[in-house]
Amino acid sequence: MSEEPLSPITAAVIGASGFAGGEICRVLLEHPYVETILPVSRGSESFAERHRHLAASGVEFVEAGEAERCDVVFFCTPSGEAARGAQTWLDRGARVVDLSADFRFGDAATYRAAYGNDHPGPDLLAEAVTGIPELYRDTIARARLVANPGCYVTAAVLALLPAVESDVVDLAEVVRIHAINGTSGADATPQRATMHVRVVGSVLPYNLDGHRHAPELEERLTSITRQETRVDLAVAHGDFARGIYLQASVALRAPMTRDQLLQLYLARYGRAGDGEPFVFVDARRRDGGLNEKVYDVYPQMRDVVGSNLCRVGLDVDRRRAVARIVAVIDNLTKGAAGSAVQNMNVMFGFPEMAGLSRCGLG
Ligand SMILES: NC(=O)c1ccc[n+]([C@@H]2O[C@H](COP(=O)([O-])OP(=O)(O)OC[C@H]3O[C@@H](n4cnc5c(N)ncnc54)[C@H](OP(=O)(O)O)[C@@H]3O)[C@@H](O)[C@H]2O)c1
Repeated sequence: MSEEPLSPITAAVIGASGFAGGEICRVLLEHPYVETILPVSRGSESFAERHRHLAASGVEFVEAGEAERCDVVFFCTPSGEAARGAQTWLDRGARVVDLSADFRFGDAATYRAAYGNDHPGPDLLAEAVTGIPELYRDTIARARLVANPGCYVTAAVLALLPAVESDVVDLAEVVRIHAINGTSGADATPQRATMHVRVVGSVLPYNLDGHRHAPELEERLTSITRQETRVDLAVAHGDFARGIYLQASVALRAPMTRDQLLQLYLARYGRAGDGEPFVFVDARRRDGGLNEKVYDVYPQMRDVVGSNLCRVGLDVDRRRAVARIVAVIDNLTKGAAGSAVQNMNVMFGFPEMAGLSRCGLG
């Protein structure tokens, strides 16, 4: 029996002049099943001026009205725009992938508690599917509307998933997470605090009173574990443009070794891409005596920047019964545009890796 050939599609990108929108265009330009890209911007700059690295593509910005006939639309806009606009695109028959926070929460009250304002269009909240293919692949495949998670949430969920699914984590204790993001995580609006001269050679903490991704992660982990889960998320910007280094510390229910915990991760994600296509477990053996400095057995951000890969590694502090789990991603790729395209691939039945790379720049 022969399978139906896959038809090429047209993709619209709203907010294409921004960091995440520009990265979606970069990814889609190399995508074998995307025939036409319609990047929407309200500004006056040309596409080549705005995205100098994409100037050779010949693509140009269009107005929203020119993008109406598309198969999929990506919202790469500040929160509020997708909630107000998604229904119109769904009515036209397009599928929608939203990179903002508009559809990440199950109900409007949790959104209000996290964002401080009423939800601008709660009617679609019940329909939206969380865009984490490693968890919800089958539901995403049937979805019209996918909510891409926050970049810290993607890294944290992939860091914690095998441990919490295997019930080795004591969730009566708070899950402690510290993460450092590139300055592109702060969006493209110029700000004094994130200027090169202010950030270089430094680390810039922010929102230590509670980042808005903490309630999103709590909702996700609670739904996975069916046990109320509390998260202490502390974030900062590092002096690099893109990439997230995230480290979670969790209390273990019972003593276990690094090897035992790693086996759970390898069983969940596979080895070197033979399981989840975009999760790689750093399982290299850790040699060296007590207090000897050991490098290169944990993931490093350098390994993934420029790719859609999440690398996960870990160790166990046996005296404290604590597991420390590291996840590294590119905030603009696996943390935003790459996972959005991965979700699109799943929604349209394309090979999940189409147009996406597992190789970092190094
Ligand atoms: N940066 C990241 O690492 C990252 C990661 C994950 C998710 N996200 C999410 O992705 C979205 C975009 O983030 P970003 O960092 O790319 O922001 P950005 O660089 O500021 O880009 C946002 C773009 O949205 C457009 N825009 C702004 N206000 C708008 C409005 N009222 N109506 C329509 N378009 C509007 C603008 O384009 P025009 O003015 O040209 O139309 C702007 O270039 C946000 O919701 C963010 O939370 C970002």
